[in-house]
Amino acid sequence: MSASDLPGAFGPFRLEARASGVAVLWFDDPARKVNLFDGAALAALRRALDTIKRRADAAFPRALVLTSGKEGQFIAGADVAEFERIESPADAETRIRDAQLLFEEWGSLPFPTVAAINGPCLGGGTEFALALRYRIASDSRDVSIGLPEVQLGILPGFGGTTRLPRLIGLIPALSMLLSGRALDSRRARRAGLVDDVLPAARFAERAVAWTESLLAAPRPPRRSAPSLINRFMQSVPPFRAYALGQARQSVLRETHGHYPAPFEILRVVGATWGKSIPEALKIERKAVAKLLFTPQSRHLRRIFMLRERAKRVPSADKARRITYTGVLGAGTMGGEIVSLLSVRDVRVRLRDIKPEPILRSLAHARSLLQREVSRRRLTSAEMERALARIEPSLDLAGFRRVQLVLEAVVEDLNVKQTLFRELESQVSPTCVFATNTSSLSVGAMAKGLAYPERVVGMHFFNPATRMPLVEVIRAEGTDPAAVDTVIALTRRLKKTPVLVRDQPGFLVNRILMPYLAEAVGFVERAQSAPVIDKALRDFGMPLGPLELLDEIGMDVARKVAHVLSEAFGDRIPSLALIDRMVSDGALGKKASLGFYQYENGTRRGVNPAIAALATSREQVPAAEIADRLVDAMVNEASLALDDRVVDDPNDVDLAMIMGTGFPPFRGGLLRHADAVGVGTIVERLARRQQAGAPYGPSGRLQRMALAGERFHERELQERTTGHAPSEAAALSSR
Ligand SMILES: NC(=O)c1ccc[n+]([C@@H]2O[C@H](COP(=O)([O-])OP(=O)(O)OC[C@H]3O[C@@H](n4cnc5c(N)ncnc54)[C@H](O)[C@@H]3O)[C@@H](O)[C@H]2O)c1
Repeated sequence: MSASDLPGAFGPFRLEARASGVAVLWFDDPARKVNLFDGAALAALRRALDTIKRRADAAFPRALVLTSGKEGQFIAGADVAEFERIESPADAETRIRDAQLLFEEWGSLPFPTVAAINGPCLGGGTEFALALRYRIASDSRDVSIGLPEVQLGILPGFGGTTRLPRLIGLIPALSMLLSGRALDSRRARRAGLVDDVLPAARFAERAVAWTESLLAAPRPPRRSAPSLINRFMQSVPPFRAYALGQARQSVLRETHGHYPAPFEILRVVGATWGKSIPEALKIERKAVAKLLFTPQSRHLRRIFMLRERAKRVPSADKARRITYTGVLGAGTMGGEIVSLLSVRDVRVRLRDIKPEPILRSLAHARSLLQREVSRRRLTSAEMERALARIEPSLDLAGFRRVQLVLEAVVEDLNVKQTLFRELESQVSPTCVFATNTSSLSVGAMAKGLAYPERVVGMHFFNPATRMPLVEVIRAEGTDPAAVDTVIALTRRLKKTPVLVRDQPGFLVNRILMPYLAEAVGFVERAQSAPVIDKALRDFGMPLGPLELLDEIGMDVARKVAHVLSEAFGDRIPSLALIDRMVSDGALGKKASLGFYQYENGTRRGVNPAIAALATSREQVPAAEIADRLVDAMVNEASLALDDRVVDDPNDVDLAMIMGTGFPPFRGGLLRHADAVGVGTIVERLARRQQAGAPYGPSGRLQRMALAGERFHERELQERTTGHAPSEAAALSSR
């Protein structure tokens, strides 16, 4: 084979010969937006390799560059949907071994091989790049290089767990493997993960030229020298054991032992350090084959796919592209939402009736964006441009050209109705009216307007810049095009939308409130607040329910609770204590006093008045506390399904994970209910009702228990579009 007869296409790969003797292997899957390693792509990669190996002309190629034909996209990882087709750990091991061997063979070709990374390089993409001899990256912000497998409950099995520590050192590799966090090109270079960083403009050509210069003046791949302390830690066995032990402790603290994957990563890295590559790869693949079949990994993969499904943006003919918005109310929520919008290229007119909140919001937006600059996710110039997109205003002048308004004013139906009516005369007839209300009826807000069909709920969670969920609320008569426009905007803000019907409390707050009320009920029945919180943290919630109430604020919670108790009566049992706390000024963290006391935002023990309530010497067992609170959520979710707030139990699972941090390893609220057994939950709810609880199991739950039904009959199987590193990180951090 010579340059002239080098064959062209291998599935999504294309080999191109350059006169200099450099071959370019382009990866561009026409069927997908991102490149993924699925079975077909790996088979094509094998054919390309075999063809190169069979070449007649040993002098060609002299070097090979792997890059992506997709602008700003390298290789997003393995196809997670295909994992579901793996039949057994033995089947997994065979498949993984084949991929390991394939990558190993590419890396052992007798000429320099270079991965030229022009975008997200994740999971299998990083593992392939690690197997090649050199890695270079573009300086584009699109580049992120990482191994996010831990977020799917597995470890990198195509050689990543073996090769990363050998390339960048044990301690930095552990930090990447355990967090799943990706590095930008500058950080990747500093870590020794890439040999060089080149300008993004005409990157592929520069990568070829870089490789040609390598041929002219051969140089060994760059190895970063680990710091003295890291070198010491990794090479002296007792210190290595100590470092691994410390990492184990920190994983235990963070995960409460709920996730097996990080512990396996530690075990595999410890066991493979110093071993030959083939020996290490064997240990690695056995571990990942086992992890793939843990319930935790199944759940995390399912959530990943649900999020991919939620990413689908409505077609452009229905959804309008929003470039100019108005935000009304520059308080807690409005102040955060403006920075989300402005950073995504959306102009915002920010209106409040008072100047102070506007000034506070502008300062807050600056500090939020400044943080992005310091994390190198934004340049200073981009920050300034984003801030310049925010136009402060004390009246509604200048709203005529705005395409969407989002109101985030006080939670008062009258105020919101009056505002929308006033707005109608100031904006164009096509302007979408979005409301961030947490509990008021979207339909009621639309009443009396000339165009009521344009009103949609767009319910962000607090803090809006961090919480990944937005409930998009469709009222009776809402125009589907307005809903689609809000969904598309939500996606552009990198949030996960869940479409819900206009019912009191929508979905998340409605399900959460009985849970919080049960916790307050335990306090009223003389149980200790820290014991209750710990029980739920041990269950896997990021915060205990009383800690969460302190964060939300008793006044805010009370408002929502009253709306819900008006709608649902008995199921929101304990409001007396919350009412009392509001009148005592124990509003939560913002008042330095709630269920706990705070000093400069740091918790300092239990509020003495709350501690005094805990007089019961008979502590309810932690498991019983958790069951009671979680059962209350399952019961309410079943009623929300009856009311068709959503139709798909998967939406409940996704919304509760994204909106409340319900433990992802349990797969979501209703997946958890299936695991416990609906019959068991019904029995417990019925028993509590007999013992005096104000409500028992819902009709739906009882029918399901009798028929032996589950919420989820089948596993979700869908094609995915690749990893979403930022969101996956958000998922794991919740
Ligand atoms: N805080 C939360 O946790 C949270 C979470 C989700 C949704 N929400 C909802 O978001 C909305 C705002 O809540 P918040 O916590 O940001 O309230 P906030 O009290 O912090 O801010 C409200 C702001 O609206 C301003 N305002 C009042 N009337 C106005 C008008 N006619 N035009 C323009 N501005 C006006 C006030 O001056 C104030 O700055 C509420 O509907 C609330 O239910 C709040």
